[in-house]
Amino acid sequence: MFTASQLLDKINNHLSEIQITRTPEGLYEPIEYILSLGGKRIRPVLMLMAYNLYKEDVSSIYDPATGIEVYHNHTLLHDDLMDRSDMRRGKPTVHKVWNDNTAILSGDTMLILAFRYVAGCAPEHLKEVIDLFSLTALEICEGQQLDMEFESRNDVAEDEYIEMIRLKTAVLLAASLKIGAILAGASAADAENLYNFGMQIGVAFQLQDDLLDVYGDPEVFGKKIGGDILCNKKTYMLIKALERANGEQLEELNRWLNADNCQPAEKIAAVTEIYNQLTIRSVCENKMREYYTLAMESLEAVAVAEEKKKELKNLVKLLMYREM
Ligand code: IPE
Ligand code: IPE
Ligand code: MG
Ligand code: MG
Ligand code: MG
Repeated sequence: MFTASQLLDKINNHLSEIQITRTPEGLYEPIEYILSLGGKRIRPVLMLMAYNLYKEDVSSIYDPATGIEVYHNHTLLHDDLMDRSDMRRGKPTVHKVWNDNTAILSGDTMLILAFRYVAGCAPEHLKEVIDLFSLTALEICEGQQLDMEFESRNDVAEDEYIEMIRLKTAVLLAASLKIGAILAGASAADAENLYNFGMQIGVAFQLQDDLLDVYGDPEVFGKKIGGDILCNKKTYMLIKALERANGEQLEELNRWLNADNCQPAEKIAAVTEIYNQLTIRSVCENKMREYYTLAMESLEAVAVAEEKKKELKNLVKLLMYREM
């Protein structure tokens, strides 16, 4: 069995060797750019880890593992356009280095490439894997649509938020693990438990991403701080702040939510100050711990030796306390 960091090295080596020998360069250069900026690679690592619970020859699933990472990077090109984000992984985003059309078309190209890579999995599992992958990709679009719709709503409830992040983020971690399990020939019950495990860590993962968007160090996080506040993203923190604010705080929050021509830095500072007054950070961390506990229960139910689950458990702890 391999450690998570060994599997990360393996997939990074594999990804660095990929060469797309097609033209025009203007279409493929942005793809090489975003893939070369790295990132945590947690989705392919999770896929390899799930596979490695049952089988040793992890190199036999590099194609689908590559596909899941290329797919994830496709979502980032479009997400950065939708969120008007100019920094990712410590570098300017594709639509900033090139332009909006490039982010759209190179992003579309990555979606197609991703399907090609995933379809390179073992033929006996092809239908099940593609069915799951395409359903997951649909759900992510649904989650992203809700995320955008919520920007202009001020009555988003906690359960709507959780469902939105389940769709936009958690299902991809879940599918990565389940595809790894399917390809390893795991039982349907194990594949499902790993899927649920991925879903629950995925929800905790997005809660932490939202938290870092307020409290992270931009040098480490690689993205600008406060982007969610500027877009009026209905994060768990904002939903809880709206719920807990006293009359004066609520009035101020609403003023910022409706402020059209404000100074970005001022808005970020003011909303963060209200979060601080309401200790929203720890409210969010408690929610993350709830999902962490659920995830551990799902992992418990996977029918492999306890010893083999250690790597996944360690990785999840690292993800919970990550700064990037
Ligand atoms: C960013 O994903 C988008 C979210 C779902 C929060 P990651 O945090 O996995 O980004 P990279 O790939 O490590 O850069
Ligand atoms: C990202 O959510 C979800 C997807 C990319 C599908 P965010 O918009 O919070 O991700 P970041 O913070 O830009 O990475
Ligand atoms: Mg974004
Ligand atoms: Mg987004
Ligand atoms: Mg974010």
